[in-house]
Amino acid sequence: MDTIELDPRLRYAAGYLGRAPKMLIDGKMVGAASGKTFEVYNPATGAVIANVPEGDKADVNLAVAAARRAFDDGVWAKVSPSEKGRMLWRLADLIERDLEELAELESIDNGKPYAVARVADLPLAVDMFRYMGGWATKISGRTIPWSLPGQFLSYTVKEPVGVVGQIIPWNFPLLMAAWKIAPALAAGCTVVLKAAEQTPMTALRLGELIVEAGFPAGVVNILTGFGETAGAALAAHPDVDKVAFTGSTEVGKLIVQAAAGNLKKVSLELGGKSPAIILPDADLDAAIAGAASAIFFNHGQCCCAGSRLFAHKSVYDRVVAGVADIAGKIKVGAGLDPATEMGPLVSSEQFDRVTGYIKSGRESGAKIAVGGERVGNLGYFVAPTVFENTRPDMKIITEEIFGPVVCATPFDDDDLDRIAKQANDTIYGLAASVWTRNGGTAHKLAQRIRSGTVWINCHNVFDASLPFGGYKQSGWGREMGEEVLHNYTETKAITAAL
Ligand code: NAI
Ligand code: MG
Repeated sequence: MDTIELDPRLRYAAGYLGRAPKMLIDGKMVGAASGKTFEVYNPATGAVIANVPEGDKADVNLAVAAARRAFDDGVWAKVSPSEKGRMLWRLADLIERDLEELAELESIDNGKPYAVARVADLPLAVDMFRYMGGWATKISGRTIPWSLPGQFLSYTVKEPVGVVGQIIPWNFPLLMAAWKIAPALAAGCTVVLKAAEQTPMTALRLGELIVEAGFPAGVVNILTGFGETAGAALAAHPDVDKVAFTGSTEVGKLIVQAAAGNLKKVSLELGGKSPAIILPDADLDAAIAGAASAIFFNHGQCCCAGSRLFAHKSVYDRVVAGVADIAGKIKVGAGLDPATEMGPLVSSEQFDRVTGYIKSGRESGAKIAVGGERVGNLGYFVAPTVFENTRPDMKIITEEIFGPVVCATPFDDDDLDRIAKQANDTIYGLAASVWTRNGGTAHKLAQRIRSGTVWINCHNVFDASLPFGGYKQSGWGREMGEEVLHNYTETKAITAAL
């Protein structure tokens, strides 16, 4: 085991990293049953920053048993909706209290700039807990009118689906935990969440805050461990009633298979290949800046990244030159360096994957307008990259790259159906953005695009109240907003003969 080597710039998180982080099972902070740990790396240097518990099937069994008891014995059901809401708010307050520490953990663990974690990931996570705290008192059924003969009173109630297994990725570690845990708890479910092995730190720290906020033992359990062991055991567990997954489309399909054993309910938030479409009448300065941030925000490690850039041929050259110019000026460096605008990719695996796609793009004849190289020789830094001259069959166009790599394509007609057809030519359907000054055109195009989100003159804009999720192979169900509550509730129809 390598010794821990902490960045001297850490101001808030060194203490936590130094004290052997633990998982949360049944209200207690614990190590793995096997006693095993695994190493967590700083992607800016490859140095080990922590050793965390390597949870596996045995720990999943303990956590699911605890969540099952907390659900079946009514531990969580006995907490009134308003008290559930208060607890979610209390947790939000604690996250806010420790905002700097959590943002620093996120930065050193995931690689993203500290300032970005501080102004984006953390406030969005806090807001998610507050927003869902509000829903705890508002989940209700309806009374249903009868048509057939006889006199009946029928109404529906919304009940929690039960024990929920949640598996999250590494691109927004704490925020993904918030998207999953907050609505499940508001709906009355109990939870076993497995963090991504690349970025376990903030989920583990959140476990401590959950205890501090006063949630009863077993209501939330937080595990760290690998996908093929802990993740697979959770997805297949017969006492789990529902699994919620965010990650690759490939693993999403494995989750569906694993869930078949007890036909647990499944929601999936998967990959994307989202288009940013720039029409000739767009405010070009805004569109260029927007298209650049659509792909380069979070180093392109966003399921909704604007990875296919379509620009009308009359503005295409200016758009590509503008995006390439921004890409070339982005300051790439360690997330804890205040000058950094883009950090490293999360892991050596993702570095290999993204640089592999860049190589494939070059080999298949696409042209690099800017970037295409590794930055430095330490850590997992990839230069912001713009490809041109792509063809629809190239892997860089059809597959999710999940890195700071955008493929630009011109279109030469003004027919909205044909523009939409080109944008929709993908197995995914997560998000899109449309850039135009014409409101009518924007909304007409928005209606033709087959994706769960369409942004007009913006991209990557989120609010806890907005449903988010995918058409086609981008997933099943929606996160956030009122819609996410469907993921965590069953509807019961009750009928009385009068
Ligand atoms: P992944 O889908 O393998 O990992 C996501 C989560 O699933 C992690 O917690 C992992 O431990 C777990 N997992 C992995 N295999 C599992 C299994 N057999 N059963 C249950 N859980 C399992 O994603 P990975 O390998 O980290 O990234 C690969 C690609 O996936 C990325 O390049 C990107 O294209 C895509 N991705 C998409 C994300 C999104 O937000 N939609 C997030 C992360 C990755
Ligand atoms: Mg994987």
